[in-house]
Amino acid sequence: MRDILPSDTARWRRLNGVFADVVGSAGYGQIITPLLEDLGVFSRIGDATDVVTKEMYDFHDKGDRHVSLRPEMTASVCRSFAQHRPVVPWKVWYTGSNFRYEKPQRGRFRQFDQVGVEVLGVDDAHLDVEVIALAWEFYSRLGLTQVKLILNSLGEPEDRAAYVEALRSHFEAAELSEQSRATLARNPLRVLDSKREHDAAAIAAAPGIADFHSPDAAAHFATVQAGLRRLEIPFVVEPKLVRGLDYYRRTIFEFQGGTLDSAQNALGGGGRYDGLVEALGGPPTSGIGFALGVDRTLLACDDEGVFGSDAAPLDTFVVDVVGGAEAVAITSELRSVGLTCDRGYDGRSMKAQMKLANRSGALIAVIVGDDELTDATVTIRPMSRDGGDQRTVPRTELITTLRQLLDNEATPT
Ligand code: HAM
Repeated sequence: MRDILPSDTARWRRLNGVFADVVGSAGYGQIITPLLEDLGVFSRIGDATDVVTKEMYDFHDKGDRHVSLRPEMTASVCRSFAQHRPVVPWKVWYTGSNFRYEKPQRGRFRQFDQVGVEVLGVDDAHLDVEVIALAWEFYSRLGLTQVKLILNSLGEPEDRAAYVEALRSHFEAAELSEQSRATLARNPLRVLDSKREHDAAAIAAAPGIADFHSPDAAAHFATVQAGLRRLEIPFVVEPKLVRGLDYYRRTIFEFQGGTLDSAQNALGGGGRYDGLVEALGGPPTSGIGFALGVDRTLLACDDEGVFGSDAAPLDTFVVDVVGGAEAVAITSELRSVGLTCDRGYDGRSMKAQMKLANRSGALIAVIVGDDELTDATVTIRPMSRDGGDQRTVPRTELITTLRQLLDNEATPT
């Protein structure tokens, strides 16, 4: 787990703003669910998944309830749906931290953030297209151009079950690593995720899911692909994409970064699921959604040199060399009219305060010395070379003068 420092948080906020704009424009409302839930909410993700068996931050609270920090938000959203029974379609988006006890490395943390959406109560394949297109639009607004969309369909639950059995027979007869043999006993689908060299040949020869699709599932998948083509969103169908969580059926997808190490190159993923709402006490309800890893998305932005961390500069920095009380009044007045400003403290010298003004990146220094105090004036000094000359103006004209200068700064010549 790590700290996100002020040098980075502005970028996080902007990223959340871009996401909120994209999903807000499609009618999604924000949901905030608790960080901590009953363990039972998350065990529904699937008892054959690492997220549930190995990575949960669970404990008994003081009332002896078995609870866990959330490892993801889809299960929480379904719990919330089952509890509040909103009208469908229910379209929600979220942002926040999740916790998984994983081995930390670049792009993999024990506390990480996701932004995501879930839609409950719609079976229409066109919704799958809408949901994928929202994530695509988000990446494109960040400026990312190397993201790859990988798509597959796990079919109906019966198709998936038949496929799992076919995989089991295939892998039982194949040459596999010891770890994958253990995985095979628990969940043959997960063997397809193995990155071990020893398993590569068996995985390459394994059957693909497409042969097991029922006509309905095949038609649904064809509609999704046609919709994506219509929107000119490029994608690759990967028949061996299975994803790490057990609740999926029909459409699943993953967004991969062009530059991160292969183990951490999943920038985000999602798909259709059912059974979750029911398992959490609600009526049978189909769902679809995705979650995008904020930490990995920002790493991908760094690697592609887009969506930089440049924070907006301060408008002004107040330099008060007559005791500091004038700065209290001036900063308060400037902030109340919407200008951003900071100041020096501790009665430091003019030189020291000008150094601070420089370091703050402010566009204009507002200076009060003995003369200004006596004459009820202020000295205004643009900090950039082409910001114009220093001038002294009556205190009453401070705000109009600043506004004019700042307008000039904002207008390129
Ligand atoms: P997930 O694939 O487990 O899916 O996680 C989605 C994304 O969260 C990953 O692609 C990755 O970017 C990020 N992520 C996951 N674990 C870590 C970690 N330890 N450190 C950094 N980033 C991480 C889900 O969570 C599903 N709830 C997605 C979904 C929503 N499916 C349907 N609706």
